[in-house]
Amino acid sequence: DKGLAVFTSGGDSQGMNAAVRACVRMAIYLGCKVYFIREGYQGMVDGGDCIQEANWASVSSIIHRGGTIIGSARCQDFRERQGRLKAANNLIQRGITNLVVIGGDGSLTGANLFRQEWSSLLDELVQNKTITTEQQEKFNVLHIVGLVGSIDNDFCGTDMTIGTDTALHRIIEAIDAISSTAYSHQRTFIMEVMGRHCGYLAISAAIATEADFMFIPEEPVSVNWQDEICAKLLQERSAGQRLNIVIVAEGAMDREGHPITAEDVKKVIDERLKHDARITVLGHVQRGGNPSAFDRILACRMGAEATLALMEATKESVPVVISLDGNQAVRVPLMECVERTQAVAKAMKEKRWADAVKLRGRS
Ligand code: F6P
Repeated sequence: DKGLAVFTSGGDSQGMNAAVRACVRMAIYLGCKVYFIREGYQGMVDGGDCIQEANWASVSSIIHRGGTIIGSARCQDFRERQGRLKAANNLIQRGITNLVVIGGDGSLTGANLFRQEWSSLLDELVQNKTITTEQQEKFNVLHIVGLVGSIDNDFCGTDMTIGTDTALHRIIEAIDAISSTAYSHQRTFIMEVMGRHCGYLAISAAIATEADFMFIPEEPVSVNWQDEICAKLLQERSAGQRLNIVIVAEGAMDREGHPITAEDVKKVIDERLKHDARITVLGHVQRGGNPSAFDRILACRMGAEATLALMEATKESVPVVISLDGNQAVRVPLMECVERTQAVAKAMKEKRWADAVKLRGRS
C-alpha cells in the first residue's frame, strides 16, 4: 500500500516515457499506489489535477514516444520553502512518500534537499494544522531515487544517460544526409551540436561520421586553431576528398577560454580557404523524436530498478541514482554523483580541463 510518484524535470530527453512506464508498471506489480506528477516540481507544488493516479493502461503505447507525456518544467516556486511546504502537503494528502525523479543534476539535487528538509516541513505543517500528528508519524520519511534523463551524457557515475544514444543517432543521420549534398557541391559543412558543457555527442558523432575537425569544450584548441583547421581541411582536399565536415559542440572554446562558434569557423574557412561553406545548427531536433532501442531498454531497466530501490529503502539508506555500469543497472549514491558532476562543471569553468576529464572518469 505504499504511495509512489514519478515525475520528469528539467530538459526532456528521449526515453523518459519508457522510464515512466517501467516505474509505474513495476510499482503496480509490487502492489503500490502509483501517481504521475505532471509538469515536474511545478505540478508537485500546484497539486490538484497535476498529481494523478496512474494505472497499467495509462502507460500503454508510450514506450516509443519521445519527450515526456507527463510534461516537464523548470520551477521557481520549488526553490522557495513556501513552495516546498505546499509540495510536501500535496504528497502527504495522497500518501506519497516515495519519489522517482527523472532529470538532470539540478533536478536530482532539488529532490535530495527536499528529502533532507522533509521532517522540518512536516513539523511546520503540523504546527499550522495542515496535517495531523498521525499523518506526520505515518509519513515521516521521504524516499527518493534518481534517474538521469539527458541527451548530454554529462552526469558522473553512469556510462550512459537516458536519451544520449537517440540524440547521437539523430546527429549521425543528419550528418550522413548533409554529406551527400556536400559531396555533390564540394562543400564544407560546419555542424553545431548540443551537449551544454559536455563534448560526448560531438566527439562520438565525429568518430562515427569521419568528421575532419571538431571543437569540444573539454579539449580546447590552441589559439592558432585557424591555421590548424585550414591545414587539415586542405590536406583532406588534396588527398582527393570532395567535402569536409566540421563539428562544433556548443560550449567549445580555445585554450584561453574564448568561445568558438560555428560562425567563427565559417568565417575562417570563407576568408582563408574560399571554400563554399555552410552552417547547420541541429538544435532541438537532437532532443526530439522516438527513442532508440538502446534508450528504451536502458530506461526500462533503470525505471524498474528505481522502483525496486524505493521499495527496499529504509530510514537509514542514502538516496541513490540508478546508473549503467558495465551494462548493469546499479544503484550508486546520488549525492556523490551530483557532487562529482558539479566538480566537473567547476573545473571546466576554471579552465582546468584535464581535471574535468579526470573527474568525469569513464562516463
Ligand atoms: O541538457 C540538454 C540540452 O539539450 C543541452 O544540450 C542544451 O544546451 C540545452 O539542453 C538546451 O536547453 P533549452 O531546451 O532550455 O534551450
